[in-house]
Amino acid sequence: MPPRVTILGLGYIGLPTAALLASRGLRVQGVDTNPAVRAQLAAGRAHIAEPEVEALLERGLRTGLLSLHETPPPAEVFLLAVPTPLGPDRAPVLEHVFAAARAIAPALAEDNLVLIESTSPIGTTARVAELLRALRPDLGALHLAYGPERVLPGRIMTELVENDRVAGGLTPEATRRAVAFYRHFVRGAVLGTDAATAEMVKLAENAFRDVNIAFANELSLIAEARGLDVWRVIALANRHPRVNILRPGPGVGGHCIAVDPWFLAAAAPEAARLIPAARAVDAAKRAHVIARAAALAEAGERLICLGLAFKADVEDLRESPALAITAALAQRFPGQVVAVDPHLAAPPEGLGAPLVALEEAFAAPGAVLVLTDHAAFARIPRAWLAGRALIDTRGLFREEESG
Ligand SMILES: NC(=O)c1ccc[n+]([C@@H]2O[C@H](COP(=O)([O-])OP(=O)(O)OC[C@H]3O[C@@H](n4cnc5c(N)ncnc54)[C@H](O)[C@@H]3O)[C@@H](O)[C@H]2O)c1
Repeated sequence: MPPRVTILGLGYIGLPTAALLASRGLRVQGVDTNPAVRAQLAAGRAHIAEPEVEALLERGLRTGLLSLHETPPPAEVFLLAVPTPLGPDRAPVLEHVFAAARAIAPALAEDNLVLIESTSPIGTTARVAELLRALRPDLGALHLAYGPERVLPGRIMTELVENDRVAGGLTPEATRRAVAFYRHFVRGAVLGTDAATAEMVKLAENAFRDVNIAFANELSLIAEARGLDVWRVIALANRHPRVNILRPGPGVGGHCIAVDPWFLAAAAPEAARLIPAARAVDAAKRAHVIARAAALAEAGERLICLGLAFKADVEDLRESPALAITAALAQRFPGQVVAVDPHLAAPPEGLGAPLVALEEAFAAPGAVLVLTDHAAFARIPRAWLAGRALIDTRGLFREEESG
């Protein structure tokens, strides 16, 4: 008999996981504290823009394998995919995880498996276990494990299945059960370890990308100071068989890579030197882009800011440096800044600049600031750029060299 699964938090992670498990024949009970989310999902409409999710949601509801709940029903497996944001003091906020743990406590039974998928500081699974034992001292065996998620938005349904997966239990038995659970739907390898290691693995992955991008951004500042093309430098350096430098830009965005490194640094602040330095390089790169654009604006240039999303071809504005840079310039130079982002229907709150179509932005003179490498921008006729100052943080318009 496949296990019943109760999933708490039906967002970017919980909803695709719920829909996928239901499509594999498991009985899935989705729980979200937000009534608007539940109402929309109950109508068969996904509240996240992610390919395939809505079709599987609709099928799950129709077959009855997927149901929606306000409070957690009993199950064999409980999966927590609730938010873990960063507090104003850069400390991880775990209140949603603890609230979810308190919510499942009454529904728990002997031998249940509790899986945490929320990105969490080292030691969180052990803290949740402590809380559950305090709330349910009557239960003997309860198995807790941490199963970090490493999917790429836009490809979540594919990567949920194809990616290798780490599953770390608080005990060897919890690890064994967590690995067995993930094998229901993961085609990649499922790698068992202990819970704290799994927690650190997730944070190490995102901190690695943050440090590497900070390095690329530092290279971009050095190359600019020496009049060199950083993209060319990186392309040639990456021909070394053991070098893989990521791409520079206006700074790192999204709610993972810009956030998770702080979770890792918080684990041992006295040991973490490189991680805060990478975050500082990121802030310095944003400030540098603003300073260069401000110099043009001070000379009377109108500024055309291309892109507000944090990366190419998505509408996601979370922690977006493009949005922060445009808003900072708009505040300093009112009436001189326009923003273009074909993935957005309306200007985000607080932008302080009009959101206009490409043609309108280029209808008048103005300097061009490339902040997001949307495919639509790569198609801009080069003639439109002639005679304009250009700050291209993404290397979108650089001339390719052969070879
Ligand atoms: N989005 C990603 O690509 C990604 C990738 C890896 C890890 N993560 C991590 O996964 C976790 C969830 O992220 P997400 O992007 O799915 O978040 P999200 O904001 O899209 O969704 C979270 C959902 O949880 C609900 N919720 C909040 N508290 C709840 C509670 N106590 N009980 C039930 N539901 C509750 C919210 O209403 C919301 O619908 C975070 O820790 C995040 O860092 C996300």
